[in-house]
Amino acid sequence: MKMKFEEELSLKARAAESTVLSYLPKNVKNCDNLTAAMEYSVGSGGKRLRPLILLHVFDMFAAAGKKGTDRVVAERFASALEMIHSYSLVHDDLPAMDNDTLRRNNPTVWVKYGEAMAILAGDALLNQAFETAGGAFDEAGDERSLRLIARAIRYLGTKSGIRGMVGGQCVDVESEKKQIPLDKDTLLYVHENKTGALLEASFVIGGILAGASDEELKLLQDAALKTGIAFQIRDDILDVEGDEQILGKNIGSDEESGKNTYVSLFGLDTAKKDAVIYSEQAVESIGKLNCDTSFLVSLVEYLTDRKY
Ligand code: IPE
Ligand code: IPE
Ligand code: MG
Ligand code: MG
Ligand code: MG
Repeated sequence: MKMKFEEELSLKARAAESTVLSYLPKNVKNCDNLTAAMEYSVGSGGKRLRPLILLHVFDMFAAAGKKGTDRVVAERFASALEMIHSYSLVHDDLPAMDNDTLRRNNPTVWVKYGEAMAILAGDALLNQAFETAGGAFDEAGDERSLRLIARAIRYLGTKSGIRGMVGGQCVDVESEKKQIPLDKDTLLYVHENKTGALLEASFVIGGILAGASDEELKLLQDAALKTGIAFQIRDDILDVEGDEQILGKNIGSDEESGKNTYVSLFGLDTAKKDAVIYSEQAVESIGKLNCDTSFLVSLVEYLTDRKY
């Protein structure tokens, strides 16, 4: 019997979570506080979307008969990606950035461990991510796997950095400080990069490691970008009308910092309509893949209406 979508989602999230936690550093001499801050950041819940998507895309192509790397390689990259996502949240919450005190219903890392330790926990998570992904080179069974891993590492670096998440965060905070409303293209740049880029990494790296074709990778990338825009629009909506208890983050944070968001620029109604349109575009790209895409389609639809 086919499992209900939400049951399957929860199983995949728990599996991704225990994999990520297994790759965190343990018992590092003189760094107990730092290790604790890293564990607090990664271990304190979260939807685990990026690692579960990466592993699901890998499994989806494997089930369709593609030959890629061993699954343990995908597990390493899924863990690396969640570490990068966690680091991005630790830094995003800092006083110098969004100045938030609540994350996943817990005090943010800087509130609990101090700003210096939060900065260092972010730095260490980013490096632990590449150490973890790089470990895959030792596990590659053949030349082709080595090439796939190299391509995936490069993609992970690009999408996490200035041409990805960091670039998006840069425009997000700069425009807030200048107090200028962004035009639509620039706001979409922010959404595509600060949020879309790590989702692209999840979809596309799952595909790269599974041995997907360039055409399939392009469809995955299109789907991820549209999913990322819809995801950030929903995030902006929840910042206005979410339930703080369910969301686990401070409500009204964007308005307080004078952020440019989809809601502040276009209003709630347009934001809600446009989130659905971007999700539909993502589903359209996913539908062109020649494998069982039912879980991915349900996931994109579920995210459009998420409450946290
Ligand atoms: C929050 O991401 C940051 C954004 C990109 C909007 P998630 O909503 O995936 O955060 P967690 O990991 O589930 O807490
Ligand atoms: C953050 O966007 C995206 C990141 C790269 C962390 P937000 O600043 O809106 O995310 P939340 O609302 O704090 O999770
Ligand atoms: Mg932010
Ligand atoms: Mg924030
Ligand atoms: Mg937000």
